[in-house]
Amino acid sequence: MKSSENIKNDKLLTIALPKGRIMKETLKLLERAGIDTSFVSSTDRRLIFEDPKEGLRFMIVRGQDVPTYVEYGAADLGVAGKDVLVEQARDLYEPLNLGIGACRMVVAEPAELKEVDNPSLWTHIRVATKYPEITTKHFLSKGIQVEIIKLYGSIELAPLLGLSERIVDLVETGETLKSNGLVEVETIMEITSVMVCNRASLKTRPRRIKEFLERLSAVI
Ligand code: PRP
Repeated sequence: MKSSENIKNDKLLTIALPKGRIMKETLKLLERAGIDTSFVSSTDRRLIFEDPKEGLRFMIVRGQDVPTYVEYGAADLGVAGKDVLVEQARDLYEPLNLGIGACRMVVAEPAELKEVDNPSLWTHIRVATKYPEITTKHFLSKGIQVEIIKLYGSIELAPLLGLSERIVDLVETGETLKSNGLVEVETIMEITSVMVCNRASLKTRPRRIKEFLERLSAVI
């Protein structure tokens, strides 16, 4: 195992991947681009995978932490959802939209409320969400005061349990909303996963990063 000093100093291109489905889809894209990722295993407990021959290192991290690793230069590149990037507003380049993980961020409420509700009359609402910054900005821009209930998952439970009538959350197939008696009121933004890049890395290793991104963009 390398020391953290070695990890920082060597020349491997370091890419932060979010655990789970997006990681698997990113590895598939890389394989299609002719980049060997067979040394990366999504089943064992290691969090760093290196292939000196390919000059690559992958770090497996929580999706919300990818922008942090890349902004601080612990990784040169990373894969992050637009939802996380907009929420965190970090200082990063976003050179390539990977087109994976497509979904949308919506405002939703119980179906029976929607029948009698008129969003154009909202002046003050309470909303449960994982995205307090995006939610606050969205409603303030419409002149609506918003009280945020910050949750970390299973947001669709909030209306069922009386925490809040409305939620802001991601929708892909719509199944989770439907199964919990909720319907969409409006879309806030379309989401996909994008490749982010550390600003200093782009200046110090421009050719390596450009070549990597070009190979990837050819298969998107
Ligand atoms: C996400 C999202 C919704 C669900 C939407 O949750 O927050 O709950 O997927 O998908 P659907 O429209 O296809 O049903 P995730 O599975 O990431 O878990 P979480 O509730 O813990 O955030």
